[in-house]
Amino acid sequence: MLNPPLHTKMRRSTGTLFDRGFLEQIKMSMDRAVAGLLDILEDELRSGEADFNSLIAEQLPVMSIGGWLELPADDYPLLRSLVNEQVLTQELFPPPSKLTRSDLATQRLQDYFAEVIRERRKAPGDDPISSWIRTWDAMEPDREQADAAVHSLAFFVLEAALETTTHLLNTMALMLLRRPGRFDQLRARPELIPGAVEESLRYDPPIHMISRVAPEDTALGDAKVLRGEMVQLMVGAAHHDPRQYKDPEVFDVRRGASHLSFGSGIHYCLGAPLARLEGVSLLTALLDRLPGLRLAAPPAWAGQVTFRRITEFKVALA
Ligand code: HEM
Repeated sequence: MLNPPLHTKMRRSTGTLFDRGFLEQIKMSMDRAVAGLLDILEDELRSGEADFNSLIAEQLPVMSIGGWLELPADDYPLLRSLVNEQVLTQELFPPPSKLTRSDLATQRLQDYFAEVIRERRKAPGDDPISSWIRTWDAMEPDREQADAAVHSLAFFVLEAALETTTHLLNTMALMLLRRPGRFDQLRARPELIPGAVEESLRYDPPIHMISRVAPEDTALGDAKVLRGEMVQLMVGAAHHDPRQYKDPEVFDVRRGASHLSFGSGIHYCLGAPLARLEGVSLLTALLDRLPGLRLAAPPAWAGQVTFRRITEFKVALA
């Protein structure tokens, strides 16, 4: 919701969040986290069906971002459920009941991060939140303003990381399990794994709508857009436009096409490298450890458009 110059200042204050060196550094712990989650999934599968969504796709993103921000692991279930509720406000026409739930969750998340910032001020460390506090203290003489900036960064990063990456991990597994043979194809050609992650992002983007408000009268193709009007960019539709993608309904891990799932321009997603790493790490381990995985039932979906959300995704062993 920010424009330059404040947006530029906020973005500069974070630096490059996930550069190559950092990703190499966390790769091992990411692989360990994935292995631990797959142990749990494997255990469940021994006695029948298991929910891939709750055991894997909802866990890895909160472990990655929570671990990076150095938030207590005991808080992860609460943070996940608050973010699930908070994003309801971003739906196209949220009913009042959903807005109320979203408001409550926003308040609790705001209180949560206010407390985290108070604690990090008392005992600063090498974590990102402490480092943002140092950066903002150096740039902003007003302590309240500095805290407000750090607060919105921490809040937004958590929010941006969870639903989105969960959806990516779910879709990736779903697209591969839907068509028998895709799993084996990737096992034989692991170099195609990053392509499978990208194609999942294209095929079913985690965020289907990106909003913009026109700063002046303008035109988009044949449509006139007046100053102050809101435009919804329908990412899912763009990704299935046959003028852009040949056979868009075909899930093709070799497609190698670019996509808009991480947005574009000055707001381009800061967490894209982390989300990709999670996808590649999970898929690599999944193919290796559970080649006999199959879909046990069609997944259940929440009735949401902006943030796509699977609520249950039952898998079993063949
Ligand atoms: C598959 C996972 C993800 C998807 C699909 C995704 C998607 C997006 C999109 C579409 C935007 C641009 C929104 C706009 O233009 O209005 C965005 C921005 C952003 N994302 Fe992500 N995201 C993902 C994961 C993450 C993660 C893991 C993080 C955190 C580390 C993150 C942090 C951010 C931030 C901070 C921005 C705002 C950038 C700005 O406004 O300058 N995202 N993301």
